[in-house]
This record gives sequence, structure tokens and C-alpha cells, in this order.
Amino acid sequence: MNESGNELSPEQQQALLDIGQAINSIPQKQPLLEKVMDIAAEAIKAERGFLVLKDGDSNTLRMSVALNMTEGAADSIIKPSASVVNKVLQENTPLWTVDAQDDPRLSGSQSIVNLKITAVACVPLILKGETIGVIYLDSTINRQRFNESTLSFLQAFANQAALAIENARLIEALQIENRMLHTELQRTYGFPEIIGNSTKMQAVFDMMSKILHSDISVLLEGESGTGKELVARAIHYNGHRRDYAFLAQFCGNLSESLLESELFGHKKGSFTGAISDKRGLFEIADNGTFFLDEIADISPTIQAKLLRVLQEGIFRRVGDTEDRKVDVRIISATNKNLRIEVEKGNFREDLYYRLNVISMTMPPLRERRTDIPVLVHHVLKRIAEKSGQKIRKIEANALKALTRYNWPGNVRELENTIERAVVLADNSSITTNDLLIPESSAEGLTPRTLKEQEKEIVLKTLEECEGNKTRTADVLGVSLRWLHYKLSEWNAGKTKQQA
Ligand SMILES: Nc1ncnc2c1ncn2[C@@H]1O[C@H](COP(=O)(O)OP(=O)(O)OP(=O)(O)O)[C@@H](O)[C@H]1O
Ligand SMILES: [Mg+2]
Repeated sequence: MNESGNELSPEQQQALLDIGQAINSIPQKQPLLEKVMDIAAEAIKAERGFLVLKDGDSNTLRMSVALNMTEGAADSIIKPSASVVNKVLQENTPLWTVDAQDDPRLSGSQSIVNLKITAVACVPLILKGETIGVIYLDSTINRQRFNESTLSFLQAFANQAALAIENARLIEALQIENRMLHTELQRTYGFPEIIGNSTKMQAVFDMMSKILHSDISVLLEGESGTGKELVARAIHYNGHRRDYAFLAQFCGNLSESLLESELFGHKKGSFTGAISDKRGLFEIADNGTFFLDEIADISPTIQAKLLRVLQEGIFRRVGDTEDRKVDVRIISATNKNLRIEVEKGNFREDLYYRLNVISMTMPPLRERRTDIPVLVHHVLKRIAEKSGQKIRKIEANALKALTRYNWPGNVRELENTIERAVVLADNSSITTNDLLIPESSAEGLTPRTLKEQEKEIVLKTLEECEGNKTRTADVLGVSLRWLHYKLSEWNAGKTKQQA
């Protein structure tokens, strides 16, 4: 038995099963709706029809498929308040007639008269007891199939279709959400100017995307040229303060009075040379981000003033008595270890904790050698774009030498090296000779036996190359076979010791 109270014939039941399977395998909503409409029209031999769905929560109807009729014609059937569609929607039961012209239930539809429609069938699409839409079918000639039994079949089919439509809707919603998440991911990980695929750089990107939209202070530590300022800018320009200023102040090697007046401004006459009132950079950076570069060297007076900005958002211009309010996010950087400066008594501990709510350490280039080839390409591409010439090629040996070198000046040194090499190489490919970097870069090893040193260098390089043996062999200038041989030799030694 079905909802209309009629039993389906075995053939009809089988057809229903087949159809159910067919429509459930169409994941996109629109193709599914079209298929549903085709099957329904075929079942009842209708010439025309349409399928409307309720639009989300707003109960308005959305024309989803029109079969052999214009949307305008379909509209003229749906629109009248006493239309057959509205009746079915309100009563949640199917409606059919083979005498449309004289059927009192359809008397409200002028279009049925105008279009000379004789047979009409209209079934609700019911999902969990609620009507989510309607299938409407009609004919001007064929009325044989517009009967109770076919209609029962049609209703059973509509129930299945409603489920399939709901599934397709869910899949579509998931796909949209997925796409949104994907863009979000791209946006938060989208720091195209910062190059690096190594796990160490991935960790940096990870952390950046987490702190982007907050206001917490960030301390960037790392050797010279590792990209601290680059990261500070990226945090600002990808975060919610991006529409306000990003200001940077280098704090190392500056006299205290000069730095103080730069940062906080001064009042006219507060010192010789203060010929007018001057706004400080903190005021200019209001609502934006302030990057304090080389923070480790600032004097106790400035440390105290900075602490007040961080704690209360308040500061005073030099020589002024008025407190001023600012709202700035502070990112600071140092290539010293600030913790050690605190222990030595050079840096206030309370300020250290305020600056260092989150700290990030930029990895030196020699600890992410896998990034060197992409960085080299990035720099070559930038040079080419600037000069309007083709990207300069680099010989394989030269690239090897670059991956082997220790880069004490990190990415900045790499940039300078490449820029210089492009000039030296004239119009040909860059060779090792154009690089002007020392051949060997195995530094900082305590004197030990050759075998011990060999093992230490190999394992260290392997770690720097994140376990990538091909790269490690490349960097060391040895064959992959040699590397495998050595690793298994040391491994065997280890198991012997353990045994
Ligand atoms: N991951 C990177 N991808 C692309 N370019 C980088 C990267 N890291 C650094 N650079 C480039 O290297 C140069 C130095 O970077 P930056 O000035 O940010 O380093 P820094 O850590 O602030 O150095 P310093 O301590 O000397 O001030 C810049 O030209 C910067 O664009
Ligand atoms: Mg810097």
C-alpha cells in the first residue's frame, strides 16, 4: 500500500526500485531534478509539466524544471492563489483530473482554460511529512494514464524523489562549504611573498595564520636575513588591521633621545631642536601595527614607556604632561636571544612577557635547505620581471653549490648572491664561478676522527634536508648509493651495540 491507499503492481514496484536507484546516483541537484521530471512525465504520458521547490525557509516557490513549456506559462498556472499547485501544497495530497475544463477544483486557473488542458496531475514532494515542492503534469490529448493507479505510482515515486533531492541539496551545501573552507585555507595560508615548503616554514605559516586576526603581541626571533620583517608585514597586511598603517622603526644603534622622540613624539621646546610639536610614530600607527625592529637594544627609559603602551595603551610625547591613548598591535623582532638579555639584566622582564605573548623563531636557511632551489627561482623571477628579460638559467652545479653553502646571512645573502651572479654571468647561464661563495661550508665542528666527522656531517645534512636522501646526497656531492651504504653501515653498528 502507498500513501494514496492504492497497491502498486509488481511491475510498478520494480520500476520504482529501478528509478530509485537511478535518481539516487545523481549527486548534482539540477540534473537530478530534470531526470525526476522526465521519469514523471513518461510514467503518466504527460506532454508538459514543471517541478517547483520551496525556497529554503521563505516558503516562496522556485521554478526548478519546466518541461515543454515556458516559465511564463508555468507561472500562469502556479500564480493564481486558487491554483492547483497551491491546493496540493496546502493539502499535502495529490490531485488529478481528466476533465480539467469542467473540474470545479481548477476553476481558479484561467490558464487551464486558455491552454485547453484536459488532464492534470499534481503530486506533492513530501519529505519527513513536509511538502518541499510539487510536480505538475498536464496534457491536452492523452488522458488514459491520468488514473488512480498511475497516480499512486507517481506519488510513491515523488516520495523517493524528495529524498534524492534532499540528498543532492545536502551534497551541494557541503560542496559550497568545502569551497569556502578551501578559500579560507588559501587565504590564511596565502603568503605568496614568503617562500618555503619545508616543514619549518610550514610551522611558521601555521602559526601566522593562527595569530593573524588577533591583537596579541608577537616576538620574532631569528638570525639576520631570515625574514622577520617580511613576516611582520604579512601578519599586518593579512590581518584585520590591514586598512590602517604598518609602521616599522629600527631601534638598534639609535640615540635614546632620538628614538624616544621618533616613537612617542615631542612637545615644542622640549629639547634643543624641538622647534614645533611633533607626533610620534605610535600616534600615526593608531589602529594599525607597529613593528619594533631590533628591540633588544632599547634603553631603560624607552622600555618603561613601551611597557605603558602595552599595558594601558597610553603614552606621553617627550616634554608633554598630557597622556595620549593609542590602539596598536606590536610586533617586535630581534636577532639576539631576548631571554638571555633579560637574564643579563639588560631587558625588563615585565616588558619581555608583554612583547612575547607569542614568539616565533625564524629558521635559518641552512636548516631548511630544501627551500633553497625555490628561493633561487623566486629571486631569478623577480629580477627578470624588473628588467623585463627572460628568467636567467642556472647550471645544476651552481644550484648544488648554493644548496651546500651555509648562508650566515640567510635569505638576504642569498638574494645578494643571486643578484650579483646575474650581473657577472652576462647573458649566459649562471655558473658556480659567478656565485662567489666559499666552496666548502662545513664549519663549527670540533676536531675529531675523520670517520666521526663524516658521520656527523652526513646525519646533520640529512636532518637539514628533512630526511630527503636524494637531496642530502646532492648537497654532500655524493652518490645516493654511497649514502644508503653509509646509513646501513651505521645502522648495523647501532644494532650490534644494542645486542
Ligand atoms: N621566506 C622568504 N621568502 C622570500 N623572501 C624572503 C624570505 N625570507 C626573507 N626574504 C627576503 O630576504 C630579505 C631579508 O628579509 P627580512 O628583512 O625580513 O629579514 P630580517 O629577519 O628582518 O633580517 P634582519 O634581522 O637583518 O633585519 C628581504 O628582502 C626578504 O624579502
Ligand atoms: Mg629586519
